[in-house]
Order: sequence, then structure tokens, then C-alpha cells
Amino acid sequence: MRVRRATLADAPALTAFGRRLFGQTFAPENSPGDLGAYLDETYVEARQLAELADPQVETLLVEDGEALIAFAQLREGAPGSGVTGGRSIELWRFYVDFDWHGRGVAPLLMRAVEDAARARDAVTLWLGVWERNVRAQAFYRKQGFTVVGSQIFTLGSDPQRDLVMAKGV
Ligand SMILES: CC(C)(COP(=O)(O)OP(=O)(O)OC[C@H]1O[C@@H](n2cnc3c(N)ncnc32)[C@H](O)[C@@H]1OP(=O)(O)O)[C@@H](O)C(=O)NCCC(=O)NCCS
Repeated sequence: MRVRRATLADAPALTAFGRRLFGQTFAPENSPGDLGAYLDETYVEARQLAELADPQVETLLVEDGEALIAFAQLREGAPGSGVTGGRSIELWRFYVDFDWHGRGVAPLLMRAVEDAARARDAVTLWLGVWERNVRAQAFYRKQGFTVVGSQIFTLGSDPQRDLVMAKGV
């Protein structure tokens, strides 16, 4: 298993993987219309290519041999609601393939995320997580994140409440 920075050449694989993982994670609790609208806006190759080319976004991939099994994206920008404590960076997306849940891939990727955050001179890492995504919240708490606020994330036409969590890095 290895973690590496994504390149533009990873756009097709990242698009397919992200689309599948987002769908598997959120389809059970969302309408097909809202989910489809989000997927068609976000997990399309042109959008993923643009994000990979964006200097304010950093994408990390975990591979097992040739197989993509997890990815994370950091994004520079304004801090989320309630985030304090110096220069911050957002952990924008964090997805591990379902076969690999509970098997140490997520902590491995989080270490790489924290290294990347520090390399970008951040001292605070923050994220938004859906209030109904209890597994992810449990994982983030284990990793030292605490809830500092909340924000709205709109899935298609559905405004949803995300918890904002943060930790010092
Ligand atoms: C979030 C994610 C990266 C965490 O990785 P993981 O390998 O599943 O994490 P872990 O198994 O180490 O930790 C999850 C914890 O939640 C617990 N858990 C599992 N299902 C749960 C549930 N339904 N309710 C509450 N806790 C739950 C696990 O038992 C574990 O805690 P434990 O180690 O104390 O037993 C991974 O689950 C994932 O990719 N999920 C789908 C995508 C996603 O939700 N991404 C986050 C978007 S913000």
C-alpha cells in the first residue's frame, strides 16, 4: 500500500472512484435526484481535471498495487464556521473503499493529509461532515478532531447540516 500525490493523469480513475464511493456512502439516505445532480456536477472528468490542476487543492491517493483504494483532498480557503487557531486548511474530501474500512487505510491516509497540511504551513486542519454520517464522525474523533461549529452543505436541492470539526496539526 502506498500514498502518493495525484497527477492530471489520475482524473479518469479519480472521477470513477469518487462517483462510486460518494454514491455508496450517501445513496441510502438521499433521493436519487439530489444525489445524481451532485454527482453530475462534481464527479465528471472535466471538474476533476480542473481540481487536480488547481494549486489550492492537493489530492492524495492510496493504492494497493495498481488499485485505487482511497483518496483525500485538501483545499486552501476561508476557514469553516467556528474554526480558530491560526492558519487553517480544509480536509475537503476523504474516502476509503468499503472493502478497506476498519483496516488501517484511513489512519494511514490521515497521516499523509496532516503532513501535506503542515507542508502548506497550516496549523489547523478542519472539515465538514454530515450530521448523519456517524461512522466518519467516530473516525474523526478517534483522530483527535472535535466539533467546533456547523455549516450547510447543499446536495442537489437539499440543504443539509454538516458538523465542522477541527484539530491542530
Ligand atoms: C470515514 C472513513 C474514512 C473512516 O475510515 P474507517 O476505516 O471506516 O474508520 P475506522 O474503522 O478506523 O473508524 C470508524 C469508527 O466508527 C465506528 N462505527 C462504524 N459504524 C458505525 C456506526 N454506524 N455508528 C457509529 N460508529 C460506527 C467503528 O466501529 C470505528 O470505531 P472503533 O474503531 O472505535 O470501533 C470511511 O468509513 C469511509 O471512507 N466512509 C465513506 C466515505 C465517508 O463517509 N467519508 C467521509 C466524508 S466527510
